[in-house]
Amino acid sequence: MRKSGQITLVGISLLFTLFQKMYHQQVFFTLDFLIFTVIAWIVGYQYDKARFFAKKVRESECSYKKLIDSLPNPVYILSDQKLLYVNQAVVRTAGVKIKEELIGKSIFDFIVPEYQERAQERYKQINKEKQPVNTIEYKAKRLDGSTFFFEVSSMYIVFGGKEAVLCIGKDISERKEETEQLLQKSEKLALLGQMAAGIAHEIRNPLTSIRGFIQLFKSGETHPDYFDIVLTELDRINSIVGEFLVLAKPTAAVFIEKDVKNLIKDVVTLINNQSILNNVQIYVEFDSDLPMVMCEENQLKQVFLNLMKNAIEAMPTGGQIDVKVKRKEDGKILIQIIDQGVGIPEDRISTLGEPFYTTKEKGTGLGLMTCYKIIESHNGEIKITSVLDEGTTVEVTLPTITQPLLVVS
Ligand SMILES: Nc1ncnc2c1ncn2[C@@H]1O[C@H](COP(=O)(O)OP(=O)(O)OP(=O)(O)O)[C@@H](O)[C@H]1O
Ligand SMILES: [Mg+2]
Repeated sequence: MRKSGQITLVGISLLFTLFQKMYHQQVFFTLDFLIFTVIAWIVGYQYDKARFFAKKVRESECSYKKLIDSLPNPVYILSDQKLLYVNQAVVRTAGVKIKEELIGKSIFDFIVPEYQERAQERYKQINKEKQPVNTIEYKAKRLDGSTFFFEVSSMYIVFGGKEAVLCIGKDISERKEETEQLLQKSEKLALLGQMAAGIAHEIRNPLTSIRGFIQLFKSGETHPDYFDIVLTELDRINSIVGEFLVLAKPTAAVFIEKDVKNLIKDVVTLINNQSILNNVQIYVEFDSDLPMVMCEENQLKQVFLNLMKNAIEAMPTGGQIDVKVKRKEDGKILIQIIDQGVGIPEDRISTLGEPFYTTKEKGTGLGLMTCYKIIESHNGEIKITSVLDEGTTVEVTLPTITQPLLVVS
């Protein structure tokens, strides 16, 4: 602690007394001199002490500022939603050269529109609760328009006598990207697993049909069309296996414009054999001028084959299946498959489509799941309604778009 204040005051006291002695011939060491000097000593000491602590405070403030400035994480203070203080890391993250480019700007200038509402909510919450709030993620944008993911924890503070919000953030773009890649990988693996189970199921349908035709050949019943059907079925097995391989090595699956009428007719021809054996009649009804749909033909055939197979299997003593294809008012196409079978209990309807749920001895419980997946990839919908012992209606709605749609599978 420097003693300049004390020395100066005591010095003044001495000089004054010396002056008094020289001009007024007074005695030097008087009681007044003593009191003056002691007061000067004490006041000087207090003055020096105050100066010393003020300097210390200034120094420590400066070193805290430097410390916060050199933190690798962005730290900033907001007041009235505006930036009041930013450290160097904020300058770097925001992609500007100097702090002054940021000070005074609204924090919402740096948040992309989709995240604005979340940020507003958060700001209100901090000011209301006046307690530190948990970390939250935003997609932020720099002044040059580029975006990045940002994680922030904030708390209410009083800064320079004003209500403010202190925020500590982190650029998490890299971490986000890594997580995204991992997720995609695990999703793909899960899908591959599902496909592996599904593939066995899918191949069983054409195999059943081929078996049926070969039995017909054996009994001497032949027709040139039957050979074509068997060949088509073999092609289908081939393409199903191909699909699995394609999934392991993604390529683009092209959706092409198709007439649902022909597609349904093909499916009915394929399943007819099985339906006759089960004493089931299939009646098909088409609206006139049906629009075309964009689809993966084999996949859609798979859907209707699965649904009709389920309908046949729901009628062990035979019955009737109505297939109705309608044009809806909104331009979409509606395919109804109505059976008179055993029906599905109400509490089961919402869980249909979950893998491996089956009530059949030889069922895999994958048929409906595959249907849901395929219709979903066609941007369509499946609705199932059922009354126990009366029958089930499955409704498939498909969009009818004109432009070709490319889906990466
Ligand atoms: N039309 C229907 N009528 C009555 N129950 C049905 C109908 N469609 C589906 N179900 C019920 O939903 C279950 C699941 O059907 P899903 O097609 O997924 O598998 P599955 O038919 O049992 O087996 P797989 O399709 O491998 O032969 C069936 O076991 C059956 O209980
Ligand atoms: Mg089935």
